[in-house]
Amino acid sequence: MSEPRLDSLPAAIETAGDYEAHAATRLDPVAWRYLQDGSGKGLTLAANRRAFEAASLLPRPLVDVRGGHTRLNLFGQTLAHPIMLAPIAYQRLFHADGECASAMAAAAQGGAFWVSSLASQTLESIADASRQTGDAPWFQLYWQGERASTLRLTRRAEAAGYPVLMLTVDAPVKLATLQLPGAVQAVNLERPLTADPPPPNGSPVFDGWMARAPTWDDLAWLRDQLRQPLILKGILHPDDAEHAIRLGCDGLVVSNHGGRVLDGAPASLDALPEILARVAGRVPVLLDSGIRDGRDVFKALSLGASAVLLGRPYIWGLTSAGAIGVAHVIRLLRDELEMSMALCGCKTLADLNMSQRGHAA
Ligand code: FNR
Repeated sequence: MSEPRLDSLPAAIETAGDYEAHAATRLDPVAWRYLQDGSGKGLTLAANRRAFEAASLLPRPLVDVRGGHTRLNLFGQTLAHPIMLAPIAYQRLFHADGECASAMAAAAQGGAFWVSSLASQTLESIADASRQTGDAPWFQLYWQGERASTLRLTRRAEAAGYPVLMLTVDAPVKLATLQLPGAVQAVNLERPLTADPPPPNGSPVFDGWMARAPTWDDLAWLRDQLRQPLILKGILHPDDAEHAIRLGCDGLVVSNHGGRVLDGAPASLDALPEILARVAGRVPVLLDSGIRDGRDVFKALSLGASAVLLGRPYIWGLTSAGAIGVAHVIRLLRDELEMSMALCGCKTLADLNMSQRGHAA
C-alpha cells in the first residue's frame, strides 16, 4: 500500500537524493520502475553516474565573490539559474497535480520547465499554472508520425505561449510500452504514438516504428515552419551536432535520455567535450542524463555546457510533496551550485570554465 502524498516538506531532507526514498514508498511498483529503470542492462544509466563521479572540482580560494549570481540568458529568455526541468511524460502518474505542479515550481524558482509532448494535462492549463508564479514553460516536441499533425502540435504550443521548442530525436523506437492507468493519458496528442503495422514480411522496427520517425529532411522542413527557437535533444555524435547547426537549430542537448533508450550509449558527460569542440560556440549546448546534485551541474557547466536538464530527481520531489517538493529539489540544487561556485572562485556562470582550467591531466 503506498503512503499518502505529503502536504508539507518531509522532515530531514538535505539533498535531492533524500527524496528518492520518500518517492519509492509513494508510488506503485510499476510506476516506480517506469521512472527509475534504464534500458537493457542499465549500462548507460550507470555510465552517466560514473562520469559525474569521476569528474572533480578544483577549489579556488580567496576570490571575492560578493554579488555573485547564477543568472543567464538563453534563447531570448532570462533565467535565474541554469537548472531546467527535463521533459518527463505522464506526470499525473506521480502526483495528482501533475505537470501543473512542476510548472509552478520551476517558474517560482525562475527557471525553465520543458513540458513533454506526452504531458498528462493540457498545454494550455500547464502554461496558465506556470504564469501564476512566473514565466511560461517551454515545449518538448515528439514527431507525430507525419508533418501535418506535428505542425499542428507546435502551433498549439506557440498559441499557448510556449516561447521555445525542443525536438527530441533519440527515442523513435519503444521496445516496451507502459500500460497507463485509464485516468492518465497523453491528452495533447491527436493519436497515440504507436508504430505503423509493418507490411507482410516487413520488420516491425524498420517498417513499423521507423516509418513514423523523423529524418534530417523533416528537421530541415520543421526549422522552416517555426518562428520560435528550435533546440535538438538527444545528440551524442559531433557530426550530428554539425548537421543540426547547418540546418539552423538554435541549440543542442547532449543526452542519452537518462539511459532509457540505447543501452551501451556513452555517458552524456563523456560525449560533451568532443561536441563542444565541433560546435565551437556557434549555438548553446545543454546537457542531461545523470545530474543528481548542484556539484554535477557545476561539473557540466565547467566543461562548457550552457545549462542542464534535471530528470528523475525532480520527479522524486513531485511524487513526495507536489509543487513544493519540486521547488525544494530545485532550490537544493541551486544552493549546491552556488556553494560550488563560491568554493571554486566563481562569481558568475561565465567564470566556471576559467576557474577549472589547468586541471585537466
Ligand atoms: C523521460 N525523458 C523524456 N524525454 C523527452 O524528451 N520526452 C519525454 O516525454 C520524456 N519522458 C521521460 C519519462 C521518464 C519517466 C524519464 C525518467 C525520462 C528523458 C528526460 O527528458 C531526460 O533526458 C532524462 O530523464 C535525464 O536523465 P536523468 O536526469 O533522469 O538521469
